[in-house]
Amino acid sequence: MAGKSKVLIIGGTGYIGKFIVEASAKEGHPTFALVRESTISDPVKGKVIENFENLGVQLLYGDLYDHESLVKAIKQVDVVISAVGQMQIADQVKIIAAIKEAGNVKRFFPSEFGTDPDLNTAVEPAKSAFAIKAQIRRTIEAEGIPYTYVPANCFAGYFLPNLLQPGATAPPRDKVVIVGNGNPRAVFNSEGDIGTYTIKAVDDPRTLNKSLFIRPPKNTYSFNEIVALWEKLIGKTLEKTYVPEDQLLKQIQESPIPMNIVLAISHSIFVNGDNTNFEIEPSFGFEASELYPEVKYTTVEEYLSRFV
Ligand SMILES: NC(=O)c1ccc[n+]([C@@H]2O[C@H](COP(=O)([O-])OP(=O)(O)OC[C@H]3O[C@@H](n4cnc5c(N)ncnc54)[C@H](OP(=O)(O)O)[C@@H]3O)[C@@H](O)[C@H]2O)c1
Repeated sequence: MAGKSKVLIIGGTGYIGKFIVEASAKEGHPTFALVRESTISDPVKGKVIENFENLGVQLLYGDLYDHESLVKAIKQVDVVISAVGQMQIADQVKIIAAIKEAGNVKRFFPSEFGTDPDLNTAVEPAKSAFAIKAQIRRTIEAEGIPYTYVPANCFAGYFLPNLLQPGATAPPRDKVVIVGNGNPRAVFNSEGDIGTYTIKAVDDPRTLNKSLFIRPPKNTYSFNEIVALWEKLIGKTLEKTYVPEDQLLKQIQESPIPMNIVLAISHSIFVNGDNTNFEIEPSFGFEASELYPEVKYTTVEEYLSRFV
């Protein structure tokens, strides 16, 4: 493990966090997970923590809202990765304050793992959610903390098992609803690959104070292309209904929480093309599969094939 940074993951027991913890341990980083004592006794989370222990991950008890516990944990590591959920995004200022006090952190990865919060054209209520992540970026930069941002685009597990049909439990076999004209491209990455690419960036000087965009070519598809791929896999043509943008915007305004957020994110990604409607410039970031060609990522076709 000589030379590999010590990594602390805050939010490691969460949906995406557990893949980052696993990737860190498997990549040979001395890996630490901040866990809340109350979480250990949770039957589901208890299994996640058992897996961490089997991987040699060191558990550090603490809480985002217990400053001393954060500082103590952070002092033991080189790199801090936050994977806290939506409700705690703004409270990452507490991690930033603890990093400042600890004074030893070589790099901080704030909780992002989605659409780039600075490079999107989302409408409300998604707009405000992205603005909170952007504000965390500004605080990190103002404090002079070295960072890497990870716009990971769409979690495959959220979007592919239902073929982009919110609320469905399986990919459709007869009819499909497509938002907009179905042409802008989005990016779908398996959660394991997001963990792997994030950890690859930890000690990489190329990603210091830059963004790591996870946009592999074989995972970049338009809504129409995903449907065509699924039709090819199941050997059947689906009946397609297109929802025009003005109708989608009306649905966003009339839907309750959280459906309005889901629809606004869908609008940003599939109508505005916010995953792919900009070039990645070396001045602000790099694409993960280009930086790490050795990673054999799961392609969208491989992922969707599981549901045939
Ligand atoms: N790209 C996409 O498709 C997509 C989809 C969903 C989310 N995301 C993004 O991914 C990131 C992580 O979201 P997620 O859904 O994976 O999160 P999540 O499942 O809600 O997990 C949140 C984590 O934060 C921990 N946590 C909560 N309160 C805490 C506290 N007071 N102190 C310490 N830890 C605390 C939780 O610990 P416990 O286990 O103890 O509760 C858990 O480990 C977010 O930035 C989110 O916006 C992206």
